Amino acid sequence: MPVSRPSCKFIISFLVFFVQVAGLTLLAVGVYSAKNATGVAGRYIEARLGKPSLVRDTSRLTIVEALKHPIKVGKRFMSKPQDALEGVVLSPKLEERVRDIAIATRNTKKNKGLYRNILMYGPPGTGKTLFAKKLAVHSGMDYAIMTGGDVAPMAREGVTAMHKVFDWASTSKRGLLLFVDEADAFLRKRSTEKISEDLRATLNAFLYRTGEQSNKFMLVLASNQPEQFDWAINDRIDEIVNFDLPKLDERERLVRLYFDKYVLKPATEGKQRLKLAQFDYSKKCSELAKLTEGMSGREISKLGVAWQAAAYASADGVLNEAMIDARVADAIRQHKQKMEWLKTEGGEKTKGAQPPAHSPSEGTSCTCLGTGKCFTWLWYIFGPGSLFF
Ligand SMILES: Nc1ncnc2c1ncn2[C@@H]1O[C@H](COP(=O)(O)OP(=O)(O)OP(=O)(O)O)[C@@H](O)[C@H]1O
Ligand SMILES: [Mg+2]
Repeated sequence: MPVSRPSCKFIISFLVFFVQVAGLTLLAVGVYSAKNATGVAGRYIEARLGKPSLVRDTSRLTIVEALKHPIKVGKRFMSKPQDALEGVVLSPKLEERVRDIAIATRNTKKNKGLYRNILMYGPPGTGKTLFAKKLAVHSGMDYAIMTGGDVAPMAREGVTAMHKVFDWASTSKRGLLLFVDEADAFLRKRSTEKISEDLRATLNAFLYRTGEQSNKFMLVLASNQPEQFDWAINDRIDEIVNFDLPKLDERERLVRLYFDKYVLKPATEGKQRLKLAQFDYSKKCSELAKLTEGMSGREISKLGVAWQAAAYASADGVLNEAMIDARVADAIRQHKQKMEWLKTEGGEKTKGAQPPAHSPSEGTSCTCLGTGKCFTWLWYIFGPGSLFF
């Protein structure tokens, strides 16, 4: 049947209209997808390239850094895995425990398994951060350190910053050990502690991103006051390790370690203006171990630096026994002063507080956070503070 002219015109204009609508729709879809794609790509590049502001220190290299320091990158790829406990002095029991953790982490990385989250707690300067870094290097992972104290000042930005950390962590090819130092500063109880809305929201973001165990990142929390953690945090922890103050044997190893590092080695290498007078070094180190009771690994390492400085300050650059003794006496005095402050602070804190139901004996490792408070009590009752009560 022949088609009349008006209806033919109508069909043509309908087809033109249809093509125009389809074209415009396709264009809109194209623009939308392109915008989305650039957004995704942008976010990916941002996550890949930039170190999030909450991360203080990382072993992870950005593309820019890799281009800037090609030798450093090359060395890193050629380097053999280190001993996880090299230069870390721990009691035999703790050493065995953390060695097991190091082996398990290394094998998890090799087998692309799910990482276990760890909490390390104990007095300041006992090697928590030191071990966390060694653990990452030994396992072949990257590490990133953030500190709890940086979170609260971020206020509203905290949530975005926290998501950025985890977006960035999940793009790591080597797997990332995310170390949260002073974790109690922001992982506090949401119900009882007076925390701001912003901090609560940031904590919620953290909990959201750590709800499932991951094969991309491993969480290592360090704290001096783990009893202040929100219960949801406790629930995410798979392993709790107590870093204690060094006992006599460990102190002797620490004194030897730092005497070697800061005095003996530079003196024998002869590269620096440092010489050592004649005396029985080994006997001296054993003596010093007894004198430094109650001191942390950090305090003992600072002694090593003080001996070195004493030699540099002397006219002839020679370190003798009397100079060593003078620095030790100084360190002991300072340590006593710090313990006095701690005692006063402890007294104020515990005013009106109920004593714990039971006080575990020294050396007991608290293996559950329910008894995490025992650490604080141990510190006041059996710790170095008690030496001066
Ligand atoms: N167990 C240890 N073995 C060897 N060195 C140690 C040990 N503990 C502390 N040190 C020395 O003290 C320094 C500080 O230790 P580290 O930062 O690991 O302490 P920390 O437990 O993380 O303390 P904080 O709770 O204050 O963060 C180390 O870099 C190291 O020189
Ligand atoms: Mg630390």
